[in-house]
Amino acid sequence: MLKTDILIIGSGISGLFFAMKTAKKRPDLSIVIMTKESAQNTNTQLAQGGIAVVTDLIKDSFSKHIHDTLRSGGGLCDKEIVNMVIKQAPERLQELIEIGTSFDKNEKGQWDLGLEGGHSQHRILHHKDSSGLEIEQKLLKIIRKMPNIELLENHLVIDLNTEVKRNKTICTGAFFYEKKHNRIKYIRTRSVVLSTGGCGQLFENTTNPKIATGDGIAMAARAGAEIVDMQYIQFHPTALFTGKKNPLFLISEAVRGFGAHIVNEDGKRFLFKYDIRGELATRDMVSNAISKELQLSGKDHVYLDCRHLNAAEFYAHFPVIAAHCNELGIKPEKDLIPVVPAAHYQCGGIKVDENGATSIKNLYAVGECARTGLHGKNRLASNSLLEALVFAHQASENVDRTIAEFTFSNKILIPKFPKAEQTNDYYAFNILKNELQKLVTAFYTSEERDADLAFEKIKLLNNSAIALVKDHEITIPFIEFSNMIATSLIIIKQCKEAANKQMC
Ligand code: SIN
Repeated sequence: MLKTDILIIGSGISGLFFAMKTAKKRPDLSIVIMTKESAQNTNTQLAQGGIAVVTDLIKDSFSKHIHDTLRSGGGLCDKEIVNMVIKQAPERLQELIEIGTSFDKNEKGQWDLGLEGGHSQHRILHHKDSSGLEIEQKLLKIIRKMPNIELLENHLVIDLNTEVKRNKTICTGAFFYEKKHNRIKYIRTRSVVLSTGGCGQLFENTTNPKIATGDGIAMAARAGAEIVDMQYIQFHPTALFTGKKNPLFLISEAVRGFGAHIVNEDGKRFLFKYDIRGELATRDMVSNAISKELQLSGKDHVYLDCRHLNAAEFYAHFPVIAAHCNELGIKPEKDLIPVVPAAHYQCGGIKVDENGATSIKNLYAVGECARTGLHGKNRLASNSLLEALVFAHQASENVDRTIAEFTFSNKILIPKFPKAEQTNDYYAFNILKNELQKLVTAFYTSEERDADLAFEKIKLLNNSAIALVKDHEITIPFIEFSNMIATSLIIIKQCKEAANKQMC
């Protein structure tokens, strides 16, 4: 039977940083990272903006960053967590630098600090407009060389197993689907870390890749972990509008920080009507303002206007964005860039404490799938990579302190679904997925949300999915779709509960 001391599920910044730190500190522990596609296929590698860290103690301060984070979170952040994350940021940044991660500097050799919505100061460290990719690659390079880490790509974790020992529920292993051999297997563990990212694929317009199907939320919920604040899905104001395409290409908030304007069909700026910070208001404000403007105009997108900016500097700062626009025939120095708000980040998730520990004793959640208390209702731009680093560190320290309490279970478990079906049913599931995306988007963006109707419709979609599965044979699209259904139901339920609370 397979076993590993620590199982990490997901290969974005939080999972890899946790793995690297833990493997260095505890060479005696075996670590397995399972990721459902190739290791680099993560939300992290798409992160453009960068990491918000206070590095300039003359113009900036921890208290300003704390204030900006709390203000963006709309009164729902956990102040102690905000304080801890922001004060720990320079140390975690230093660790990234030590492994060779490169962040841009200006001609004076100082950090070239970017500005983004909701920040009162320039404080975003970035690697041009591909900060996440730079971090992901540097971490992967190290991880692949560490003798006590095994990185298993194309391994889709289906479910966690828990057992009750001395009145405590603990996580003792996981069922996973090994794509190469088309087999479902079980692995025993002493500790599990979920770093599975978010659920942007539940929405028609999203910046999240196809893999963002809420797997961690669904698995954790099935295992009995507490999930909170899933009603707070953040929409990024400026995804490149390219009709019905999923995912949409992100145009970083840093572009607005660099001076770009948002304009309507008549070429007029309109954001100041909604917030005095205009283009540099927080994401929720800017996205809501654009949605209202679109409702009024009946159009399906607005524009980002970069024509007044220095073109050479724009191309130097945003080479990936510029190249992508150019490929579509859009020249940012001459043309308006069509943009639309798109689901971008899940602010809620699996409830964790300051150590990334969930309500199940040896189960941790880090990164976007975790709800740490840092973001409240609306995450401040570029605070997510930072949160991932800090909580991966906290969780790593905690695992080091506590793993001795957990031993391997001797139980030999037989998967509920013994066999995986190889036939390709992606087409049928894509149709169901599109229906689900339409439904969740319509529900979430409606001013009069009818949760009961949404539940009914989702149940019908679920029945259709089950009808596609023969006997005991499951498929990858079925597993992902089931996770999407489970996550949608949680979002709708928590939206309904939040609405009911407001009425009381
Ligand atoms: C962006 O570059 O606008 C995205 C960064 C983030 O999500 O914080």
